[in-house]
Amino acid sequence: MSKSKVAFVCQQCGHDSPKWAGQCPACQAWNSFVESVQPERASGGRGAGAHAAGAAPRAQKLQDIPPGDLMRIPVDMGEMHRVLGGGLVPGSAVLLSGDPGIGKSTLLLQFAVSLANAERPVLYVSGEESAAQIRLRASRLNLDPQELYVLAEIGLDEILDAIGQVRPGLVIIDSIQTLVSPELTGVPGSIGQVRECASQLVALAKQSGVTLFLVGHVTKEGNVAGPKTLEHMVDTVLALAGDQHHNYRILKAMKNRFGSTNEVGVFAMRAGGLVEVPNPSAAFLAERAPVPGSAIAVPLEGSRPLLVEVQALVTYSPLAVPRRMANGFDQSRLHMLLAVLTKRAGLRLADQDVYVNVVGGLELAEPAVDLAVCLAIASSVADVALPAELAAVGEVGLAGELRSVFTLEERVREAARRGYTRVFVPRAGEVADLGDEGLDLCRAESVRQAIRLALGNAPLAKSKRQGGARAGRD
Ligand SMILES: Nc1ncnc2c1ncn2[C@@H]1O[C@H](COP(=O)(O)OP(=O)(O)O)[C@@H](O)[C@H]1O
Ligand SMILES: [Mg+2]
Repeated sequence: MSKSKVAFVCQQCGHDSPKWAGQCPACQAWNSFVESVQPERASGGRGAGAHAAGAAPRAQKLQDIPPGDLMRIPVDMGEMHRVLGGGLVPGSAVLLSGDPGIGKSTLLLQFAVSLANAERPVLYVSGEESAAQIRLRASRLNLDPQELYVLAEIGLDEILDAIGQVRPGLVIIDSIQTLVSPELTGVPGSIGQVRECASQLVALAKQSGVTLFLVGHVTKEGNVAGPKTLEHMVDTVLALAGDQHHNYRILKAMKNRFGSTNEVGVFAMRAGGLVEVPNPSAAFLAERAPVPGSAIAVPLEGSRPLLVEVQALVTYSPLAVPRRMANGFDQSRLHMLLAVLTKRAGLRLADQDVYVNVVGGLELAEPAVDLAVCLAIASSVADVALPAELAAVGEVGLAGELRSVFTLEERVREAARRGYTRVFVPRAGEVADLGDEGLDLCRAESVRQAIRLALGNAPLAKSKRQGGARAGRD
């Protein structure tokens, strides 16, 4: 083991100092310093000048380096294979983050079993569950583990020893926040411990060619708990997301040194574990009924366009300040769209509660879904269903104008492929002729025009009852 020195690290921002201090000089947090061991090599840059004069430089000319193909181990789980950028890279380190209970352990156990074979056994290290619990989970998921080794342990040295004994092709650490290095005094999960344990494991992976998967907990804000450096240390960061009350889970690459971060895998959580969903659009729309307040948006998940149902419910509000609730859509964006609809499209929303829900537990963060949200709201106000074959793509600006979105053509194609033959799009944006597919491309300049085209002359400031209530109050 390399020589190390003791330092104090701020648990809030990671600032280190040779002396303890009550307040961190970098982030001003109080009582945040915890003792931590800094390996000597960590002082990198400063040591550089100490290089013996005359020693041959280790830097090489780029063209002298043999190209060498990146070896990849194919993965049976198709969605995982894609998100990793085309299989596992030996010697790489992957961090999988996600909320508690989202399915990280389930996913990785299934992944471990699918990958383990005599040539490349898999070592699954759990600091959270006992070996018997893991066995139980494997039975519940109907897995038949061959060449899968399990270790319930939190001590870093014991884990490093076990890796030496088993010589696995893949090591899974569930989770990095539970590990402790005996060299440090910090508790498991503290910045010092997480940084030290991760850096030793990553170094081992690079040296020995074993692939390393680390499970990382997330904080309330959705960031990986522990030092930010954890994300820099690994080659790939994957995030498993989804709504715990829905069964869809989305696996995204947030960072990938060996592939694109545009790939997304979709899984469904079933009694037998996570099942891949090769055709997510069909799954998300399976229960759709063409009722007032329902519209189809075409967001991109990674590089794939998806069709997703957006529902809106607009009802008279007895409250002085009406409610606006968004599930799966940004609340402040909803407020902005409601203001635009009021001012630019003439909808009367001031005395109405507005609820917006994205079906399937998806989180839509792209402005390209604005138009679908607006159409769903207008359809609910008018109490008229949108045509069943209608999908909408477009960002809504503050002037009520429809703005172009990127990858418009792929979105339109995906909609047409799923039978949505009337697609509302902004005026700008190239789309090749898709006439053969029976596609009716409706170009609209403004959200007002789109609403009129979609709903005809249905009244948008409606209802006798509401009118009566209004008159009564006046
Ligand atoms: N013994 C069990 N029986 C039924 N469902 C379970 C059991 N254990 C876990 N689950 C379900 O599986 C889901 C995923 O759990 P898990 O993979 O442990 O999540 P994570 O590791 O991300 O915290 C959870 O929603 C949980 O409800
Ligand atoms: Mg777990």
